[in-house]
Amino acid sequence: SFEQSLRPQTLDQYIGQTKVKENLAIFIKAAKMREETLDHVLLYGPPGLGKTTLATIIANEMGVNIRTTSGPAIERPGDLAAILTALEPGDVLFIDEIHRLHRTIEEVLYPAMEDFCLDIVIGKGPGARSVRLDLPPFTLVGATTRAGSLSAPLRDRFGVLSRLEYYNEHQLSDIVERTGVILDVEIDENAASEIARRSRGTPRIANRLLRRVRDYAQVSGEGIITEEIAQSSLELLQVDRLGLDHIDHKLLKGIIEKFRGGPVGLDTIAATIGEESHTIEDVYEPYLLQIGFLQRTPRGRIVTEEVYRHFQLDLPKE
Ligand code: ADE
Repeated sequence: SFEQSLRPQTLDQYIGQTKVKENLAIFIKAAKMREETLDHVLLYGPPGLGKTTLATIIANEMGVNIRTTSGPAIERPGDLAAILTALEPGDVLFIDEIHRLHRTIEEVLYPAMEDFCLDIVIGKGPGARSVRLDLPPFTLVGATTRAGSLSAPLRDRFGVLSRLEYYNEHQLSDIVERTGVILDVEIDENAASEIARRSRGTPRIANRLLRRVRDYAQVSGEGIITEEIAQSSLELLQVDRLGLDHIDHKLLKGIIEKFRGGPVGLDTIAATIGEESHTIEDVYEPYLLQIGFLQRTPRGRIVTEEVYRHFQLDLPKE
């Protein structure tokens, strides 16, 4: 697909995540030298940083196929058994949102990961018996936004644990320029930096903003993305100087206006602004914590003085 074509296909093409990349390159090379299957890999970190892309690259670099599914999509043990028995030796099985796997399915996964076999119960009642089925060796690549929500036995069965970090402005700028080449749109260096600065450290956001800015340039300019066009279109998109959007604003201003800056519990915030607690926790909070706009305390979330400054608001009186 079009979205797929934007994605880098090799570790060399992949920008950023230097440590993760360096390590993976070694593990992949060693596995290939030994003619073995790559160990199971857990990729964790905030959404949009390239977990799915890396899974695809791992399969590509190993020269094997990738089969993709997600935690919530696997409803019954039989669903997982069907996927596992259809794999070819060495294949990558990518399970996105692996923290959302049902416990009953996790238990099928343990022997599959550890010994490449399945224990299946045939029949019911007193006549039921268990048979052991051999599987082709495979590499499980799991992705999660929350490594902490993974059960310890599952986490322990991954040989490689890689944490993805937010990208810096320079890396995001390189990604925007790379995508610009693929989309065949001319983009000034300063415009790429402006988009990078407002992308919350996240390539998925950078590429999304680039496409919207390109629309704007096409309609109101000459198709070339200049710094001026980038700035005015990002203004129009309600993405502020730090990349915070409408929902970030609602979240931060909600805590300030309704709870005097906190502390306030996550579920209370969620109810106040009409967003899901999980979405706030997985999508919005991590970046706000990272830039020091939010803090987690045992009594709930608080906004920092930086937020008052950003919105040019007076600090609450003691
Ligand atoms: N597009 C999205 N993420 C990327 C990355 N990390 N490197 C190169 N291109 C990308």
